Amino acid sequence: MAHIVSGDSGVHDVVEALRRGDVVGFPTETVYGLAADIRNEAALQRIFSVKGRPTSHPLIVHIADFDQLHDLAVGVSPACLALLEICWPGPLTVVVSAAPHVSRVCTGGRDSVAVRLPAHPLAQMVIRELGAPVAAPSANRFGHVSPTSALHVANDLGDDITLVLDGGPCAVGVESSIVDFSVTPPEILRPGSITAEEIRAILSHHGTDLSTSSHGPSRAPGMMDRHYAPRARLVLHEAGDPLPVDGAPILRFDTNLVDAARHLYERLRELDARHIPLAHVVLPTPSGLGFALRDRLSKAAAGL
Ligand code: TXA
Ligand code: MG
Repeated sequence: MAHIVSGDSGVHDVVEALRRGDVVGFPTETVYGLAADIRNEAALQRIFSVKGRPTSHPLIVHIADFDQLHDLAVGVSPACLALLEICWPGPLTVVVSAAPHVSRVCTGGRDSVAVRLPAHPLAQMVIRELGAPVAAPSANRFGHVSPTSALHVANDLGDDITLVLDGGPCAVGVESSIVDFSVTPPEILRPGSITAEEIRAILSHHGTDLSTSSHGPSRAPGMMDRHYAPRARLVLHEAGDPLPVDGAPILRFDTNLVDAARHLYERLRELDARHIPLAHVVLPTPSGLGFALRDRLSKAAAGL
């Protein structure tokens, strides 16, 4: 079982492990990540093998300052920079053209790279002390429920990793919003807690549109239909629909969306811990953070 460490000494331990080429669990404000030093290709490859993730699904690179963005990316547009000035540090990832030295193991063979500056202070400390960005997908097995506590990571990845840095429960609870700036107009690839409305408003000041029409697994590899999925079967309902009275638990995600997002994955994990085969889920309306919740819940409910 992975060792859970915390505080300054925990940061130091995980940085030492990253320097040795290990992969470690680390906290961000969205979900916990499975981190590797971006300069170490063997460590990057280990992320894919620990997760059981196809090597064509690119990883998000986590940075601690804008200098690291300019080192990783080429031709970042003024509109993109303006958006990042407002939203970073925070739960927003941008896909931009990758500099030639960025490992194509990390980008899944693409010439674009996904970059995020997380708000969690321990994530920033790790990256600063290492002196390099870390690549990190969510720290769960491929297709399964994302982790929002150190214990979730240790339970999921068990003996395959040695260390998890405990940064407490994740404040946001759903993965970052992803905007692809490698296309014109830029396009939302994954909804998150920074909403399309907010992003569109910022970009419009720079005469830039935002497309929300992406459905392409080829555009956003790793976004297949079934994802974020517990073993329990989920039956989705719109708020206000009559609910079946069949004794199965009813999980409501239609009020207090910030809390609904924060506890989403914990509640899905609880179904499996209690060996519940089926649950009813009440969806939020599709606006604001409701889009991210509907996206994750519909993928969690999709058939195999
Ligand atoms: O909140 C988050 O973003 C979390 C935390 C740990 O930061 N990370 C996360 O990573 O959710 P992951 O690997 O589970 O999701 C990354 C997704 C990929 O599935 C892919 O769709 C998209 O980001 N992505 C990454 N690089 C890309 C690229 N170059 N082009 C298009 N999509 C990319
Ligand atoms: Mg993931």
